[in-house]
Amino acid sequence: MNFEFTEEQLMIQQAARDYAQRELIQDVIERDTHSIYPSKHVKALAELGFMGMMVSPEYDGSGMDTISYVLAMEEISKIDASTSVIMSVNNSLVCYGIEHFGTEEQKQKYLRPLARGEKIGAFLLSEPEAGSDATSQRTTAEDKGDYYLLNGTKNWITNGNTAGTYLVIAQTHPEKGHKGINVLIVDRDSAGISVGPHEDKMGMRSSDTHSVMFTDVKVPKENRIGEDGFGFKFAMKTLEGGRIGIAAQALGLASGAMERSIKYAQERKAFGIEIAKHQSVAFKIAEMAIKVENARNLCLKAAWLKDQGKPYGYASAMAKYYAAEAAMWITTEAVQIHGGYGYVKEYHVERLMREAKLTQIYEGTSEIQKIVISRELLHIH
Ligand code: CAA
Repeated sequence: MNFEFTEEQLMIQQAARDYAQRELIQDVIERDTHSIYPSKHVKALAELGFMGMMVSPEYDGSGMDTISYVLAMEEISKIDASTSVIMSVNNSLVCYGIEHFGTEEQKQKYLRPLARGEKIGAFLLSEPEAGSDATSQRTTAEDKGDYYLLNGTKNWITNGNTAGTYLVIAQTHPEKGHKGINVLIVDRDSAGISVGPHEDKMGMRSSDTHSVMFTDVKVPKENRIGEDGFGFKFAMKTLEGGRIGIAAQALGLASGAMERSIKYAQERKAFGIEIAKHQSVAFKIAEMAIKVENARNLCLKAAWLKDQGKPYGYASAMAKYYAAEAAMWITTEAVQIHGGYGYVKEYHVERLMREAKLTQIYEGTSEIQKIVISRELLHIH
């Protein structure tokens, strides 16, 4: 077993760290406070090749492995998870979905600009009444011969307004249940699409989250990905990889909060000594380190399995569950270590705590990860 990174992986990690620590940090509090979309940072990450990291160079991607993706996601998320979720959805849901299941024409037309980061993608699965229960799709894609007629509402869509390309999951044959669901590539500027107001979220406030409404939107038949009825399986397979991205995001929130806690504990004095010398603080930091190390190993194992072409759904659910729980615990304790300073924006940890909460909710709640893990162990399919 080799626990060492390659030179290329280390270079990617360093590039992400440099960008995050020098640039992304500059206006992160302002962007969070006023929910400002990080346009210039998304553009800069695209220039670094981070918007299509794992896409083959044949389709204008960077051809990097999933381990590099985890390393970059961790570094970006230490500073700003609102920016890293934009990156994650584009990379591991939208680009992956089209590259692995799309036709050559779909890749030429849609994947290239997404991999270059010229366009951003969104993954439209959740609905007002279909969040965790993803088979209960109400959005319909009626088969009209040479096109689908799309009607319905999607909720909580990351990149909902800024995306140029949507992957929309919708029901074509309700009588077939989840086997009647399709996935369609939809141009954002198609007639009949309207976007709801920006969601005023607790955390990840500068990522772009909206409802998206479809009213008689015509989608050409050639924009369906896979066979008729492949949509639900497509969503499940794609989310397996998406969960590695969100696990790495949670890891970054956890390790970022830990790094800030270590620094603060060595500077801040109470009762005549640095608070790091109080065992109550030192033990919290030790526990943080144990959780970060475990979360990182789970993320990297899931990424490694994916890179080796081995099944990784179980491992990615475990990484996502554990990293999100670790992030929530570590960021909460980081606020505690910082005391009153932790509760104000300037010290960043309160924001990391708000952001960590979402990692327990999106791309499958912690409970959903436990369903995936337990079904695998109990052979319930
Ligand atoms: N790969 C391939 N196929 C899979 C699969 C997988 N990982 N998981 C399930 N399937 C297949 C099953 O084999 C089954 O197919 P058959 O009927 O042909 O056997 C079919 O899908 C239905 O499976 P289940 O009966 O297991 O479905 P279920 O209703 O019990 O639900 C679930 C399974 C795991 C709970 C699923 O609904 C789920 O993952 N829900 C959470 C959805 C989610 O993560 N949403 C996140 C939204 S995206 C987002 O957040 C992006 C963002 O903006 C950040």
